[in-house]
Amino acid sequence: MAKYNYDQMPGREAVVAEWQERSQRTGLASVMRASHSPEETASAADQMEEVLMDFIARNVGSLAGKNVLEIGTGIGRFTRPLAERAKSVTTVDMTASMIERAKANLNDLTNVNYVQSEIKDLTVEQNEFDLVFDVWVLMHVLDDADFQESLAVMSKSAPRVFICEYTDQGERPVGPFSLLRTADEYIEGFSLPVIAQSDFYYCGDRSDLLLFGE
Ligand SMILES: C[S@@+](CC[C@H](N)C(=O)[O-])C[C@H]1O[C@@H](n2cnc3c(N)ncnc32)[C@H](O)[C@@H]1O
Repeated sequence: MAKYNYDQMPGREAVVAEWQERSQRTGLASVMRASHSPEETASAADQMEEVLMDFIARNVGSLAGKNVLEIGTGIGRFTRPLAERAKSVTTVDMTASMIERAKANLNDLTNVNYVQSEIKDLTVEQNEFDLVFDVWVLMHVLDDADFQESLAVMSKSAPRVFICEYTDQGERPVGPFSLLRTADEYIEGFSLPVIAQSDFYYCGDRSDLLLFGE
């Protein structure tokens, strides 16, 4: 069962304010847990990029010539390795100040399109992209109806959908803006075949990596 660390679900205004506040933090603290040390965080971030890009290379293959839809730009830490490998990356984030951070970090890249939107509000054509790439965003979609709508948009966008989401919080509980669903809840929610599954541990916290598609 999904784990909530709140008595009452934060409303949309609180969620918007939270991401706006996090976007003002320094470096990786904007997109990774504040409860781990900067050293732990930096080392985990390097390892995570390697693990995720290796998972994509092994299970999706080369991104050369492909158009990728990235869900949750943040400060652009995965946008760069994706854009370096793919034809184009369209990256979506609901927080304008996160997108500004990413634009500043990625100003040398010419194949990145930025979109400010919530996932559920995106207008996409069927299979407009080759791959959807999502890291630690669905875990922040607290409302179940929004979650279902987000999955529908992601499934429509591309024949393959990659997600990396927290499934266990280790010893230090996550805050009220995160919701830990199980890998099975994601699998049921997408109702697409699972092509590959793996995991990534970061200071005792578990994320599941799932690739969906035919
Ligand atoms: C934990 S950060 C992860 C960012 C990036 N994927 C990474 O791993 O570095 C979550 C990001 O998702 C964005 N976000 C949260 N809920 C969203 C939603 N429903 N639609 C679009 N973006 C959302 C936040 O603004 C934030 O930039």
